[in-house]
Amino acid sequence: MTQDEQKAAVARAALAHVVEGAVLGVGSGSTANLFIDALAPMAGRIRGAVASSTATAARLARNGIAVLDLNEVDDIPVYVDGADEVTETLAMIKGGGGALTREKIVAGVARRFVCIADGSKLVPALGRFPLPVEVIPMARAHVARALVALGGTPRLRAGFVTDNGNQILDVAGLVIADPAALEAEINQIAGVVTVGLFARRGADLLLLGTPDGVRTLGAR
Ligand code: 5RP
Repeated sequence: MTQDEQKAAVARAALAHVVEGAVLGVGSGSTANLFIDALAPMAGRIRGAVASSTATAARLARNGIAVLDLNEVDDIPVYVDGADEVTETLAMIKGGGGALTREKIVAGVARRFVCIADGSKLVPALGRFPLPVEVIPMARAHVARALVALGGTPRLRAGFVTDNGNQILDVAGLVIADPAALEAEINQIAGVVTVGLFARRGADLLLLGTPDGVRTLGAR
């Protein structure tokens, strides 16, 4: 299977994890988009979906799926989303599409995170993909200096504004030996909204595309 075929295969495989009659959390990105399209025939069998971005909300609506406000929802059994990098312990880097803050919020509410990714996303250690960090614009230079002190090389994502009106620093060169510890450390820099490390709340299940089919990792 090609990379695109792998994305389509994991998107279809995720349908088996959708809880009928319940609210579904839906992530952002090209793999999540394929999942939304595959979900369309099931629109009447779920209560609705909470979207992790305005783009995802629009795509859900186009596919006839009711988009719900997270504040009106008290239980999300399952959240389905992609990743930029994922390890065998199911820690991830996310935010390549810039939706990391809402993704982390919906993932935090969900009881189960099902990650869907093509095989290129599986890595032995996180960090080759530049780590996205969403920042309050007035704190950008301060946060950048703090990230340099941690050994990274931050670069402003030019011309990009998040759904929350903030900016993103993409940080190259970090050695991420302990993703959960680094997530906590970056989180406490004043001006950071969200760091794209998803380790403290990683995935529970990974549906990974391979040339031969879909591999399942994790059993949480
Ligand atoms: C968006 C994300 C995406 O999940 C991540 O970028 C993966 O995208 P794709 O499925 O297009 O490879 O975190 O903020």
